Amino acid sequence: MTTVIDGKKTAASVVEAVTVAAAALERDTGRRPGLAVVIVGNDPASHAYVSSKSRMAKQCGFKSVQHTLAEETSQQELMELVATLNADPEIDGVLVQLPLPKHLNSEAVIQSILPEKDVDGLHVVNAGKLATGDAETGLVSCTPAGAMILVRQIRGPDLSGLNALVIGRSNLFGKPMAQLLLAANATVTIGHSKSRDLPALARQADILVAAVGRPEMVKADWVKPGATVIDVGINRVAAPEKGEGKTRLVGDVAFAECAAVAGAISPVPGGVGPMTIAMLMANTVIAAYRAQN
Ligand code: GUN
Repeated sequence: MTTVIDGKKTAASVVEAVTVAAAALERDTGRRPGLAVVIVGNDPASHAYVSSKSRMAKQCGFKSVQHTLAEETSQQELMELVATLNADPEIDGVLVQLPLPKHLNSEAVIQSILPEKDVDGLHVVNAGKLATGDAETGLVSCTPAGAMILVRQIRGPDLSGLNALVIGRSNLFGKPMAQLLLAANATVTIGHSKSRDLPALARQADILVAAVGRPEMVKADWVKPGATVIDVGINRVAAPEKGEGKTRLVGDVAFAECAAVAGAISPVPGGVGPMTIAMLMANTVIAAYRAQN
């Protein structure tokens, strides 16, 4: 039988542990972890993600602040806000929701966040620590960190001898995911839009991770029998069967057909998505503890 990986349940246990740690910090120091989330512009999906991040931070007992800036915000205004949050002793984590409007330089904004407050793990110091085997002293990007917990639930801590394919090469997910799998001794391939034969690469993979943003791209004949399939895609598609104008969420993996071949598979929704938010809370409480020392 195929295991359907329950990301909601695992995320709930991470959130529970974070809540306990946050309460202990407040009891011992009188200070709660603080998370600042910044959003620029009007993208509805980004607003939904940011609201759930702010809500979860409150639920964990954090000081939670959200800065909602207009689409027309200038680079300088945004950088000044980041500088203010960097200097605020009550703020342990700063997250600038991506993508930013096109006129803004995302990379410059991200690199201006203090590495110790970079709860997205996107600063070159944190990405570099992960790549050089020093992830424990840095902060790891939330979605790959969460996906890795799900992989380990199925495959255990040591992935020696296993082939892993990560489809997608973004700084936010593909690259750090590949580093985490490599650190756990998997033999790692990164596939992307310029790869010659993705289905053939996928069929070699004991661990297949898809993060491309193409609805249901991974088909059953891409999946090695018994493989662990982790779906990182969140795509909104038309659902005429639910009524006119209705939509539904699907991943990058054609779930039903791939579930028939895989050993374990993460669903969308309810797989990696809840883990991303849980790991953001975990990174914030880690940053808060470090700030005490
Ligand atoms: N947009 C989509 N996912 C993420 C994320 O994990 N962090 C940020 N900052 N923006 C995102």
